[in-house]
Amino acid sequence: MFRDLLLSLVSLAGLFAIVFAENAPGWPFDVTTLTAPDNSITAKFVSLGATMTELWVSDKFGSFRDVVLGYDDNTKLLTDPIHPYFNPIVGRYANRIKNGTFSIPITKNAQPDGPNVFHIPTNEHGGLDTLHGGTVGWDRRNWTITAKSATSVTYKHLDPGDEGFPGNVTVFVMHRVENSGILKTTMHASATALTPIMVSQHINLNAFQQGSNDILNHTLRIDGAKVVATDSLQVPTGPLIEVKGTAYDFQEPRQIGSQWNETVGYCGPGCQGYDNCWIYNKNESSAAGVSLWSTLSGIRLDVTTDQRALQFYSGNTVDQPRKAVHGGPALNYTRWSTLVLEQQNYIDAINTPEWGVDEIYGPGRDFEWSSTYNFSVVH
Ligand SMILES: *[C@@H]1O[C@H](CO)[C@@H](O)[C@H](O)[C@H]1NC(C)=O
Ligand SMILES: *[C@@H]1O[C@H](CO)[C@@H](O)[C@H](O)[C@H]1NC(C)=O
Ligand SMILES: *[C@@H]1O[C@H](CO)[C@@H](O)[C@H](O)[C@H]1NC(C)=O
Ligand SMILES: *[C@@H]1O[C@H](CO)[C@@H](O)[C@H](O)[C@H]1NC(C)=O
Ligand SMILES: *[C@@H]1O[C@H](CO)[C@@H](O)[C@H](O)[C@H]1NC(C)=O
Ligand SMILES: *[C@@H]1O[C@H](CO)[C@@H](O)[C@H](O)[C@H]1NC(C)=O
Ligand SMILES: *[C@@H]1O[C@H](CO)[C@@H](O)[C@H](O)[C@H]1NC(C)=O
Ligand SMILES: *[C@@H]1O[C@H](CO)[C@@H](O)[C@H](O)[C@H]1NC(C)=O
Repeated sequence: MFRDLLLSLVSLAGLFAIVFAENAPGWPFDVTTLTAPDNSITAKFVSLGATMTELWVSDKFGSFRDVVLGYDDNTKLLTDPIHPYFNPIVGRYANRIKNGTFSIPITKNAQPDGPNVFHIPTNEHGGLDTLHGGTVGWDRRNWTITAKSATSVTYKHLDPGDEGFPGNVTVFVMHRVENSGILKTTMHASATALTPIMVSQHINLNAFQQGSNDILNHTLRIDGAKVVATDSLQVPTGPLIEVKGTAYDFQEPRQIGSQWNETVGYCGPGCQGYDNCWIYNKNESSAAGVSLWSTLSGIRLDVTTDQRALQFYSGNTVDQPRKAVHGGPALNYTRWSTLVLEQQNYIDAINTPEWGVDEIYGPGRDFEWSSTYNFSVVH
């Protein structure tokens, strides 16, 4: 209880956060390291947010690289007022919620004073919407390890109706590494009352490769013919846009930067880059939803998932000191130097009943999530 109160205060006041961090420089972070038997992949996690702090895979030269953004000082995961969500689990409801408001059953324009309406702290765009579960989302809660081996770790979190969501949710996440460069993450959540649940893993891949400091030279394929239309806050308006003939179209692999100038406005007014939600074409039996590779490093990633949508964010506002292994701390991670992939469901479907996408879970209906990240080398 006291810890939770402290966490709320910390994230409410950046100034307080700094004072707190200075007063507790050695705040302990329990690091779990998983390595596949064939040494092809090593991943490190901390209990706070069940967050991945490092992910090492081989490049085409046979050198191992840490391919995710992060901090050398893990206390920043708890206190950084910029809060860039470097590789945690985000929930109870990932991505944006219009005006932090929804009703159960869901309705189109839930008004705060309407019946069965819930209002969640609005922590983005000056209080106009909610991002990643509220002021203190699951990424800033300390999860408990329930099982651990050399290749897998399972974390549990009990959310007792935090941030104004209805019902208690118990969530488990298992991270596992396997031979041939595989990272697999699965989640399971159950709730004691009807509540929205849309959990995601917020993977921040980096671009630090020979010859390039941005992601624009990476080749991307997204198996999705539609993106969600959004307003100036990147909150869905209802329609789905056909990607064909637009710079949203990654159905055939192409370099991320190849239609870069056409992306002005895609991530908000005057903003260049992506921060959008693709609806996958695939169904259960189909192949990878996303593929990504760089011919400079030779690292290739194929992601398969049971989720129906993908948020791809090109790090348009990132400006943070880098980890030492990425050349920090004098150099920063800057805009377009990271590619964030979030496997999730239709964003803000709880305010978009016309989609007919049911994101309300409760007794008798548990939430499931599974994604496999397959790293290989291209020459
Ligand atoms: C989270 O919990 C673990 C296990 O109790 C503990 O070792 C660690 O210090 C905690 N981390 C934070 C940030 O509170
Ligand atoms: C957003 O929520 C706030 C707080 O409940 C409310 O005062 C405001 O009217 C809502 N705005 C809209 C546009 O519904
Ligand atoms: C929800 O969690 C709270 C706090 O742990 C507990 O007091 C309460 O009994 C739980 N309610 C249900 C319905 O499980
Ligand atoms: C891609 O890489 C080539 C060669 O390394 C470089 O000349 C070019 O400027 C890069 N393009 C982008 C968009 O980064
Ligand atoms: C993209 O925009 C920049 C800045 O406005 C301009 O210098 C560049 O020529 C444009 N590139 C293309 C391919 O249109
Ligand atoms: C799944 O996708 C494949 C390939 O697009 C298609 O042939 C098949 O009919 C789909 N199955 C279902 C159940 O939608
Ligand atoms: C790096 O980012 C921090 C935090 O945004 C900022 O204060 C600092 O000026 C940046 N450093 C450089 C070299 O741009
Ligand atoms: C991983 O991706 C590589 C390259 O696309 C492929 O050859 C391999 O079969 C994939 N492995 C799994 C387990 O899907």
